[in-house]
Amino acid sequence: MKRNLNEILDRLKRVPQIIMPEDASMILAKTGVPTDAKIVDAGSGSGFLSIFLAWYCPNGKVVTYEKRMEFAEVVKKNIEKTGLKNIEVKNKNILDGIDEDKLDLITLDMKDCEKVISEAYEKLNQGGWLAVYSPYVEQVEKVIEDMRKSNFNEIKCFENISREWQSEYGFTRPKSQGLMHTGWLTFGKK
Ligand SMILES: C[S@@+](CC[C@H](N)C(=O)[O-])C[C@H]1O[C@@H](n2cnc3c(N)ncnc32)[C@H](O)[C@@H]1O
Repeated sequence: MKRNLNEILDRLKRVPQIIMPEDASMILAKTGVPTDAKIVDAGSGSGFLSIFLAWYCPNGKVVTYEKRMEFAEVVKKNIEKTGLKNIEVKNKNILDGIDEDKLDLITLDMKDCEKVISEAYEKLNQGGWLAVYSPYVEQVEKVIEDMRKSNFNEIKCFENISREWQSEYGFTRPKSQGLMHTGWLTFGKK
């Protein structure tokens, strides 16, 4: 049987809040990164976003930064379970610097992400994208302001609302319970 990413993700350990596949897929859809993309992701958390990106960019590489040792260990074990070979985990605070350059995509899902925005611009290829995930709208405002200061183009922000519907006993309507909010995704292009 062929391997299915959603089934693999369902079996992995989750530590902090993860980026859901709906939001992760929007990053691919809005940036159109090539399948050999060179990507930096921070913070790794449980590694879900890194694994998602590495799965859909099989000829590329994802380097993921996690400042907490115990989370970096969970991420390494999660990656082992996927069998993916194109992810490197760094137990490093990304505020101390991004080692990689000529990047096609940088993804940030962490507190203080606005402090990385100007360096992210330097480390991207021309035409490369920065994607920032923010659970709070106050963070979005700061991220957009800092992307403008750092000369990013095509800055846009999306809320990904997906509502499951139910159809039973002859009546069809949206389900009354479910995940009501994840976060906003803000994009900027170099
Ligand atoms: C919400 S989680 C990320 C979840 C991840 N995107 C996923 O899908 O599994 C945020 C992570 O960022 C890490 N973090 C926060 N600040 C960081 C920094 N400056 N450098 C590296 N990691 C950081 C935290 O320790 C935490 O594990």
